[in-house]
Amino acid sequence: DASVYAHHTLREIMEQPEVVARALAPRPEIELAAGALRTAGRVFAVGAGTSYHAAMVARYAFAEVAGVDLQPVLASEHDLFLRWMDAGSVVLAISQSGETADVLEAVRAARAKGARIVSIVNVPHSTLERESDLSVNVRAGPEVGVAATKSFTAQLSTLFSMALEAAGRPPLDAERLRQLVTSALSSEGSARAAGERLRDATDVYIVGRGVHYPVALEGALKVKELAYVHAEGLAAGELKHGTLAMVEEGTPVVLVNPGDGTYVDTISNGEEMKARGAFVIGISERPNDLYDLHIPIPEARGLELPIVEVVPLQLLAYYVALARGAEIDRPRNLAKSVTVK
Ligand code: M6R
Repeated sequence: DASVYAHHTLREIMEQPEVVARALAPRPEIELAAGALRTAGRVFAVGAGTSYHAAMVARYAFAEVAGVDLQPVLASEHDLFLRWMDAGSVVLAISQSGETADVLEAVRAARAKGARIVSIVNVPHSTLERESDLSVNVRAGPEVGVAATKSFTAQLSTLFSMALEAAGRPPLDAERLRQLVTSALSSEGSARAAGERLRDATDVYIVGRGVHYPVALEGALKVKELAYVHAEGLAAGELKHGTLAMVEEGTPVVLVNPGDGTYVDTISNGEEMKARGAFVIGISERPNDLYDLHIPIPEARGLELPIVEVVPLQLLAYYVALARGAEIDRPRNLAKSVTVK
């Protein structure tokens, strides 16, 4: 029952097992999009905010599973990329609302260059859907909270399905993902404890490597937007190139640290921060002595990981916001859909 949740945002976070399973279901539009990708010259993925983070995650996924060099493009910065767009290009336009002005402008400019537009939208019958050659709905259902949560995991699921289909590989197992996301949600208690611990924080650093880097960016956006706490997402390897100077006694750091090929290096970056006094929150399958606080995630692999690990970050952001008494469903200064440039 939806009414058991204090906020739409929390309900939408909790809906994700079903949302992800639904987004992973095969549909003709995904096959058509995969066909377009197979014959494409350059491939771009345009988005803003959370949808841009989905494009960044997609870059890793497309490279890994389909050998496709997908170029993520910030909608508001699309000018730079226009010179590379031509009739052979496919532009994946990612937008929950399908009404974001910068995305529409980028799409119109790309189309004028002859590019094919494949939109990945949530709101049906949106302007973006109408202006695309092909549109794939992510099927997240109405998202009321200004913070994008379930639409992000639905975007990832849809993009991953496209990449796998384009590569002629089997899709992700929807039932397995439903269970994994349910299990990630069961870490709510630890995410809440971490959120309460961060109530008085002024800055939070969220750190990940590889595909976990854009997930860290997404976590940081959620913390800023929901809790009004300054948060920064970082590629772990970048720390010692500057940001490590910010770390002092008690500085909160979240490691997006699943047990894949990034694990060991991320741990050693965490150790460097811990040595300077950081309070380390680890998102990982297993505890580690390094973590002052551990938020468990289920055993997942490959493309399942970004979907699974963003869930505790969303919960963490929600609980920091709750502890601070922030206006969760409608953060100050923001609109659900940004229809002006
Ligand atoms: O509707 P869109 O996906 O195009 O919106 C893009 C951004 O405005 C949106 O993701 C925004 O960053 C969210 N509030 C983030 O939670």
